[in-house]
Amino acid sequence: MKVIAVNGSHNPDGNTYHALKVMCEELNAQGIETEILQIGMDAVQGCIGCCHCRNEVSGLCVFDDIVNEHAEKIKAADGVIFGAPVHYAGVSGDMKSYMDRLFYSASKQFARKVTAGVVAVRRSGGVASFDQLNRYFSIAGMIVAPSCYWNVIHGDAKGEVLQDLEGVDTLKTVAANMGWLIRVLAETKVELPKVPARRKTNFIR
Ligand SMILES: Cc1cc2nc3c(=O)[nH]c(=O)nc-3n(C[C@H](O)[C@H](O)[C@H](O)COP(=O)(O)O)c2cc1C
Repeated sequence: MKVIAVNGSHNPDGNTYHALKVMCEELNAQGIETEILQIGMDAVQGCIGCCHCRNEVSGLCVFDDIVNEHAEKIKAADGVIFGAPVHYAGVSGDMKSYMDRLFYSASKQFARKVTAGVVAVRRSGGVASFDQLNRYFSIAGMIVAPSCYWNVIHGDAKGEVLQDLEGVDTLKTVAANMGWLIRVLAETKVELPKVPARRKTNFIR
C-alpha cells in the first residue's frame, strides 16, 4: 500500500514539505509506504483547454512534464496527499496550474482513492485554500479523509510549522485516518455502488 504526497511549494524543504513529512511518518507507522513528489522550481504550465487529454487514448496532458509524470504515480497509488503553500489566500499559482491539468487529464482514475489536502500558511487564507483543494477531490469521486480540524498549519520560516502543535496534531489525525481508510478499502468485500452515467446539461439545457 502506497501514498503519494505532492509538495506544491517551490521550496523543496519549506513548510509544506514539513507538513507532508509529518503525515508521511504517521502513514509509515501504519506500514504504508510513502513518496513525496516535488513540483519543483520550474514554472508549471497552466491548462490551455485544448482537450488533447480527453481525445487521446493515453489520457495524458499535451504538455509532457511533471504533471504527466506524477499522474502515473498517483494512478498506481492507494492514496494521495496534495500540499500547497498559501499565496494571496489561495493555493500558489503553480499548484493551481498543476491541479487543473492533473485533474482534467487523469482524475477519472483517481475515483475512490483516499485523499487529503493540506496547506501551509503564515497567518490568514488557510481555510479558503484548503477548500480550494477539496473541490478537486469531490468532483473526482475521491474519498476525503477526515481530521479533527481543517488541515491548515501555520508558519513562515522553513520548518516553523512544526511549532504549530495543534496543526501537527490535526495532520497526524488526518494521516492516521487515511491509513485506516486505505486498509479498510483493501480488505472490504462490499461491491462498488452503481452510479448513473453523468448527463452533461450545461446548467439548464
Ligand atoms: C507570494 C506569496 C504570497 C503569500 N500569501 C500569503 C497569504 O495570503 N496569507 C498568509 O498568511 N501567508 C502568505 N504567504 C506566506 C506563506 O503562505 C508561508 O510562508 C508558507 O509557510 C510558505 O510555505 P512553503 O515554505 O512550503 O513555501 C505568502 C507567501 C508568498 C511567497
